[in-house]
Amino acid sequence: MLFLLFLTSVEALHNGLSRTPAMGWNNWNSLYCDVSESLLLDTSQILIDSGLRDVGYQYVVLDDCWSDGRDEAGRWRADADKFPHGMKYISDSLHARGLLYGMYSSAGELTCGRYAGSLDHEKEDAQSLADWGVDYFKYDNCYNLGRMGTAKLSFDRYNTMAQALLDTGREIVYSICNWGEDYVHSWGMSIANSWRISGDIYDSFARPDPICSCTDERDPHCIAPGSACSVLFILNRVAAYSDRGRPGAWNDLDMLEVGQGGMTDEEYKAHFSMWAMVKSPLLLGHDLRTMTAKTLSIINNPAIIALNQDPLGSPAIRIARNESVPKDGFGVGETHVWSGTLANGDQVVALLNAADADLPISISLEEIFVRAGPGGRAAQTKQEWLVYDLWANRMSETHAHAILDAADDAAREAVFRSVNWYNATELPYVQGLKAGDTRLLGEKIGSVLAGGKLEALVARHSAKIFRLRPASGEVVKPYILGKDEL
Ligand SMILES: *[C@@H]1O[C@H](CO)[C@@H](O)[C@H](O)[C@H]1NC(C)=O
Repeated sequence: MLFLLFLTSVEALHNGLSRTPAMGWNNWNSLYCDVSESLLLDTSQILIDSGLRDVGYQYVVLDDCWSDGRDEAGRWRADADKFPHGMKYISDSLHARGLLYGMYSSAGELTCGRYAGSLDHEKEDAQSLADWGVDYFKYDNCYNLGRMGTAKLSFDRYNTMAQALLDTGREIVYSICNWGEDYVHSWGMSIANSWRISGDIYDSFARPDPICSCTDERDPHCIAPGSACSVLFILNRVAAYSDRGRPGAWNDLDMLEVGQGGMTDEEYKAHFSMWAMVKSPLLLGHDLRTMTAKTLSIINNPAIIALNQDPLGSPAIRIARNESVPKDGFGVGETHVWSGTLANGDQVVALLNAADADLPISISLEEIFVRAGPGGRAAQTKQEWLVYDLWANRMSETHAHAILDAADDAAREAVFRSVNWYNATELPYVQGLKAGDTRLLGEKIGSVLAGGKLEALVARHSAKIFRLRPASGEVVKPYILGKDEL
């Protein structure tokens, strides 16, 4: 008991940040190196006007290609054409708008885009970030001079920057991006607020691509994690260690592809929901300047975001996988059930259909609560649960249009008021959940009797996301490994 208390009360990373996963936007997935001051400032205004800041998207993250080498003293220089007023101006502007600023480098001689990297420059670069008022730092893995191949080599390289950031005294969320190499799922939580678990995502739900080269997602010895990894691939990869996430330290499934155009509306809903449930950081990756109403009404769903921002911070785990289902032309087809416990004793369940046909998916309470006692021993299997659909109250396309097309602030505010949309700036998720705010809870569609099964027809390439609530209102204390001793 004492031993466990010790484990749960001490954290290796002392920055105390990111108690829930970071939410924001990063330019890379849609714009790559096409970065500028106006892009960041225009985007920040859209985050505000669209209501996205006020459902939780706070970090505006500038990815690669922003720098112009180093000055004579070895200090990083921002590209003066792209950023005519420098970096402090950007962070000041974002902070004045209630937003936070993120920047990027690589734990290598160069960044992936061949700009100055931070390997062996950690101290001065961390100081530049602090001086510039940066709040979030993404640290990539290109041109690492071969200092990888064992957990110790990679750990040391990323830890040097972790310490340099701490030494500045500024609160900077530390997001490491070593593509899941060198068992980062076993040491990332010791030094970082999040760690990438795979090669880069691409805008496909399930299409396998040889560039995402670790074709057996269960192989932890994966080298050359590559890019062009599908949503389904990344979910299968994180399945073995989704439970490593915890407040302050999260598996990073990579930036979102929602709104980029390569997936259907249902696929994007599933992608977004799963990232939220597994407690990945939620960084939008599309170009907000061309955002459609459909896209806005996916990423602004507060009932789904509330899963991600749930104060318990317990990621969903995959509890069932069925590969005996119709396959597509690539030979891909499977269904999953994922589930996780929420702070108020509710349980979230995702029925994910990545098969090539509409299928019924069912799961027993016994399996849903297997972590609370296998073999039907869990108390939760002996009570009735009410089932709430977390997509039932998606914003209508008409309202989303009205927000995006509003002539002025007054017109926009009128729409937000008329739909009574959730505002996390006014009522943070932790408080909204505590108060049982119905906008976070979806809509009741049925129930599961004690000892029963949850069952639904799930369309091809989509997911049903349900919040199960105890019918009696009585909460069985959630069982979370290592947290029951708190
Ligand atoms: C959310 O609430 C804040 C604080 O009251 C307010 O400034 C902001 O305009 C609100 N956002 C929306 C989208 O209504």
